[in-house]
Amino acid sequence: MCGIVGYVGNKQAAPVLMGGLRKLEYRGYDSAGVCIQNGRLTTVRSEGKIAALDLKLAKHHLQGTSGIAHTRWATHGVPEERNAHPHRDCSGSVAVVHNGIIENFLELREELTGKGHIFHSDTDSEVLAHLIEHEMEAGLPALQAIRASLACVRGTYGLVVIFKDLPQTLFTARMGSPLVIGIGDGEHYIASDPSAIIEHTRDVMFLDDGEIACVSSEGITLCALDREDVPHRIQHLDWEVETASRGEHAHFMLKEIMEQPQVIENSIRGRVDLIGGRAVLGGLDDVRDRLKEIDRIVIVGCGSAYYAGLVGEYLIEELAGISVEVELASEFRYRKPIITERTAVLAVSQSGETADTLEAIVEAKRKRALTLGLVNTVGSSIARATDAGVYNHAGPEIGVASTKAFVSQMTVLSLIAVYLGQLRGFLPESKAREVLAGLHEMPELVEKVLANRGQVTRVAEKYRGMENCLFLGRKYQAPIAYEGALKLKEVSYIHAEGYSSGEMKHGPIALIDKSFPSIVLCPQDSVYEKTCSNISELRARKGPIIAVTTCGSMSHVQADDVIIVPHTMEALQPILTVIPLQLIAYEAAVARGLDPDKPRNLAKSVTVE
Ligand code: M6R
Repeated sequence: MCGIVGYVGNKQAAPVLMGGLRKLEYRGYDSAGVCIQNGRLTTVRSEGKIAALDLKLAKHHLQGTSGIAHTRWATHGVPEERNAHPHRDCSGSVAVVHNGIIENFLELREELTGKGHIFHSDTDSEVLAHLIEHEMEAGLPALQAIRASLACVRGTYGLVVIFKDLPQTLFTARMGSPLVIGIGDGEHYIASDPSAIIEHTRDVMFLDDGEIACVSSEGITLCALDREDVPHRIQHLDWEVETASRGEHAHFMLKEIMEQPQVIENSIRGRVDLIGGRAVLGGLDDVRDRLKEIDRIVIVGCGSAYYAGLVGEYLIEELAGISVEVELASEFRYRKPIITERTAVLAVSQSGETADTLEAIVEAKRKRALTLGLVNTVGSSIARATDAGVYNHAGPEIGVASTKAFVSQMTVLSLIAVYLGQLRGFLPESKAREVLAGLHEMPELVEKVLANRGQVTRVAEKYRGMENCLFLGRKYQAPIAYEGALKLKEVSYIHAEGYSSGEMKHGPIALIDKSFPSIVLCPQDSVYEKTCSNISELRARKGPIIAVTTCGSMSHVQADDVIIVPHTMEALQPILTVIPLQLIAYEAAVARGLDPDKPRNLAKSVTVE
């Protein structure tokens, strides 16, 4: 949540910072601001999206080769200019951009106010600028002042600090909120997310919690809150620059939906051994022995990642014979979960930074469980916090709505299920081969769904005026119903509910009348007939039905509108049925004149609990 960019080097900083902010806007778009060092600290801020800041900047002609910038998702303080970052101290000698939450900011603010500091915003972040100023007034040099200030705060931070009197130097510190330093030639970048800087460099260093870096054009000095000389760990990201831009597509959401065949290809590359009939997951090999001993898996995630986990539950129980529970990460540690050394806790997360999911992993580690990650963002906090794991390789997902990451999560979960089933001698070879062959042909089947986009567009057009929608599915399709409802509501603001079809007559059916459509997932799987009965029950109440099915002959007697997807084995069918739902949500948002990439009140990675 919130995006940070910093630059120090030989270029003009403002265009670099603004370019980075545009890449990060998906992380928050309540307000934005930049601060450039040019003998003094010049700050320009604006309420609203980055385009508003652009307009304002056009009047300022900011000159200077170092600076910091921020795009905000509001936590403390309404989305107004005075609450936009960067925040400054009283004398205008320190400016900060901050992600995370300073939990004890009220008491710190009171203390500092008592010492004469004047605050200009309602944010928790501003307190950091004043704390640093206070420590410097007491005689500490910049780095020590930052250290001393951070020692006073409770909470989380990804922080970049710039000083009026220290040209070409930035300081950055991390505790629970990600930061990455990009290494260029005589220049350095700082960002909360690599997508902001990969067009400039792919050589990066991720900060760990508790670390502070002093970044100048010449180099990086790394230390920690409590020690000096932390070794550098530079890594090369092999992301393609194009994956972080939307190319010919009107929105990232559409681009990310349309690139799903390639995403699946990337997620299974080198992992499907058709000749040997094996799932190859090198990321789990180090913990093979422990995986043989586990008696239970708990999958944790939030939002779409949680729904992918529900599909994973079916997959792993069917293919590996291990008992699985799926928990909302935000609830996990508030219960007294029964976790032992024989439990594996698998975190599913696109960003790898979701605070609730990360905290669930911390709790699982405390209870000595084996911790695993299914994460898309390389080097992210969850990827690093877990004992072992598998990357999605879906490339950066920029649209706030998870689409390609969700599909890739289901794809990789099916590989994990095969891997575990084989490791534990549970999965018959013929079944393993069937799943692997199904995955191998999946990119082609997804192409077919996308090639038939017209059938979805027609349905979306017909129902563009709907105010409510019920999504139904059973067994493997139940989580897809939940996901379809989440997708529709988050980008189009249409009220939608996802239910397991079997639950429909225990309450939701009371909602149904001729103005309340249902989207029913009914591929020809083991529960097809039961789902068809549920459709009849809805029709008897005059509810319009949109069926997503594999059955070419599904008559319009059963459904008002039919969207046909190719048939595959039941366990993999969710990968195909979710795609029309993503497209329906996208089309509904666009038809209502909304920006599906930046739904109101949301941000891409939710780094607060
Ligand atoms: O980065 P994560 O996968 O951990 O994010 C989890 C959820 O915040 C995310 O899936 C969210 O629900 C999406 N906006 C859904 O489209």
